[in-house]
Amino acid sequence: MADSTDSRPIGMLDSGVGGLSVLREVRQLLPSESVIYVGDQGHLPYGPRPREEIRSFVSGIIQFLLDQNCKLIVIPCNAACAAALHYARTAFPAIPIVGMEPAIKPAAEHTKTGVIGVITTKATYQGELFASVLDRFANGIQVETQVCPELVLLVEQGAPDTPQSQAIVAGYLDPLKATGIDELVLGCTHFPFLDKQIRAQLGSDIEIIDPAPAVARQLGRVLAQRQLAHPAGAVGQVRYLTTGDADHMRFLIKTLLHEAEPAVEAVQWHNDRSIEVVRNPV
Ligand code: DGL
Repeated sequence: MADSTDSRPIGMLDSGVGGLSVLREVRQLLPSESVIYVGDQGHLPYGPRPREEIRSFVSGIIQFLLDQNCKLIVIPCNAACAAALHYARTAFPAIPIVGMEPAIKPAAEHTKTGVIGVITTKATYQGELFASVLDRFANGIQVETQVCPELVLLVEQGAPDTPQSQAIVAGYLDPLKATGIDELVLGCTHFPFLDKQIRAQLGSDIEIIDPAPAVARQLGRVLAQRQLAHPAGAVGQVRYLTTGDADHMRFLIKTLLHEAEPAVEAVQWHNDRSIEVVRNPV
C-alpha cells in the first residue's frame, strides 16, 4: 500500500463544546493530525430543535469546513448525527464523514443486571438512529433513557463542581439508578465533562461508557483506509471557531481541556445558512 501523506486538516463540528471530549481523544491518538473545530454556540442547544433545522446548520458548517480544505469531517455530536448524519453523507458524497451513535452495544455486552441507562438529549432520543441502535443491540435488555437538557447547559458554563450542579445531576441520575442499571451510556458528547459529578452520584458499581475513544479509533481507521492520514511525526494544530462568543469559548477550552492560551475565532451565520469568519483569534 502506498504511504498516505495528507496534511490537510480534519473538520469537526458540534453545537458547542461537547465535541471537545472527542477532540481530546483524537489529539491523544492522532497527534499529527490538524483539526478545525467549529462550535455552533450561536444555535446551542441542538437537542430541542427540529431535525430540519439541525440539518441546515450541519450543512452550512460542513460547507464552511470544505471551503477550509478539510479532508474529512467528524461529527462528534449525537444530536447532530441523529438529525443529519445520513443527510450529510448524501449531500456531501465526496467527503468521508465519521459520525457517532449512542454506545448501546458495549453497554448491552457488559451488563449483568440486564438494565442499562442512557442519558442524552431529545433530538438523539427521538431520532431514527437511536431506534435502530436499540433494534440492533438491545434485544432482551431493558434500556432506561433520561433526556437531560440542563446538563448540556451546565457544561457550557464550564461544568462547575458546585452543590447546585450536583443537585441537577442527581435529579436526572437518581431515578435511573433506582431502576437497577449497572451501565450508563453517555449519549451526548457534553456529558464526559461532568464525569466527576456523574461518578459521585452513581457510586463505583455502575460502569460509565464514554464513546469518545471509540470515535477516535474509528477516525484513525477511516484515515488509514482512505489514505488520508497525516505523515507521522508532525505536531498537528487545532483551530477553534465559534458562532457564539469567542471569549466565552476560550474560557471553556481553558477550563475543560486545560489548554493554556487557546486562540478562538468568531464566525457568523448569514441568512443563506452560510458562515464566515468575522473576528480573528482572541
Ligand atoms: N453535544 C451534543 C450531543 O452530543 C449536543 C447537545 C445539544 O446541543 O443539545 O448531542
